[in-house]
Amino acid sequence: MAYSCGSCGYRSIKWLGRCPSCGEWDSFAAQEANTKAEKDSASSWIGETLCPINEIDLGEIKRLKSGIGEIDRILGGGLIPGSVILFGGEPGIGKSTLLLQLAQSVARENGNVLYISGEESAAQIKLRADRLGVEDKHLYVLSEQSLSRIIASIKQVDPCVLIVDSIQATVSDGTLGEAGSVRQLRETSAKLTRITKSRKMTTFLVGHITKEGTFAGPKTVEHLVDVAIYLEGHRGEDTRILRSVKNRFGRTNEVAVFQMRTDGLKEITNPSRFFLEEQQREPGAGTVIVPILEGTRPILVELQALVSPTGGYRAPQRRSSGLDYNRVAVLLAVIERRLGIHTSDADVYLSIAGGLETRERATDLGIVAAVVSSLRNRPVTGRTVIVGEVGLSGELRRVKNLRERITEAEKLGYKRVIVPAVPKPPTRKRIDVVPTQTVEQAMDTLMLR
Ligand code: TYD
Ligand code: MG
Repeated sequence: MAYSCGSCGYRSIKWLGRCPSCGEWDSFAAQEANTKAEKDSASSWIGETLCPINEIDLGEIKRLKSGIGEIDRILGGGLIPGSVILFGGEPGIGKSTLLLQLAQSVARENGNVLYISGEESAAQIKLRADRLGVEDKHLYVLSEQSLSRIIASIKQVDPCVLIVDSIQATVSDGTLGEAGSVRQLRETSAKLTRITKSRKMTTFLVGHITKEGTFAGPKTVEHLVDVAIYLEGHRGEDTRILRSVKNRFGRTNEVAVFQMRTDGLKEITNPSRFFLEEQQREPGAGTVIVPILEGTRPILVELQALVSPTGGYRAPQRRSSGLDYNRVAVLLAVIERRLGIHTSDADVYLSIAGGLETRERATDLGIVAAVVSSLRNRPVTGRTVIVGEVGLSGELRRVKNLRERITEAEKLGYKRVIVPAVPKPPTRKRIDVVPTQTVEQAMDTLMLR
């Protein structure tokens, strides 16, 4: 007899009151021997034949265009028939909205789409659809939680794309456990995967995750699916980022940017232009432009610092949003020691515009410049972009994808880019590339010292 945690799947040979893995109380239950359904699902996996590797016939993988360019791009060029995509994200972030939009565009271009909701009634889906302007006779909608009835409807509609919203709300009738339990998730995902492969459709499984790290859902099924993408964003910000974290048919860590509007999510094909609010004017003191890497593509964003003296009457405040605070603390120390500029009696606030986040060292020099610019109340002029990692002794270090970052700055009409000195610095026609050895030298070039 063994026991397993109903929340995260942790196994133990004895019963435990609190799960050592996820910390959930009273979540352990005895695991019965495998049910018949589980044995079936283990034995009837896709029946491929044994074959030497050089004789495998790839055929032609034809990708189906979803009609939403940014989604096709992060999936590696479109939807692959017979593949399962896990679509995760926090509740309320916009998963149902985006998938309903996708359902519409696939239905319009490619044929039948079946959208199953285990969370909303058909009337609720219709209300949302009206708001989004979604209406197509090839888009079928069913409010259903039972897996057997879902499978029956798949046979009836014969869709090229199936959307199950959400996998946590779907129950397999012959399986123990409530909807959303580890056993149910495994069983429903495995069965849907099998039917997806055999019917050569593309299936999206929606999975809710919560910020607190209750990953029971998506993490349990992530290894079963071919592709996992997550929709991220902050409350109060309308920017949404769709990120691929697993892709058996393409690159991972590809990123697409969307904006939540009253009529749904709109793809942002040029994020730099979108995030730079005042492109034509020079930024004010404390604001600098840095290229951050999202996946493999550089995005230019505004990094802002506000440094304001406390007058020495209270402990200084330090806040940063979108940046790694520990890194900021190290950089403040470098500013103090290398540039002789004291910030210990000042509040320092730092943020990246648009709700983006980065932990990249390549923004180090931008942070230093923003802090010094704010403190001196002197703006960075000359349509300048700043890139570079800062070492503890103030030396500038090389960053990855430097060329792509410079190209992006040039494309957006910037005139000068400060970069770490590398053996062969790239040169460009329309932008002045300025290789720099140290933070001191960089501050001199920016006329901030
Ligand atoms: P939803 O797609 O229901 O989120 P999820 O399926 O991830 O739980 O989106 C919910 C939020 O999106 C809700 O707060 C309202 C907002 N929203 C818009 O801003 N514009 C829209 O067009 C729609 C349909 C929703
Ligand atoms: Mg939803």
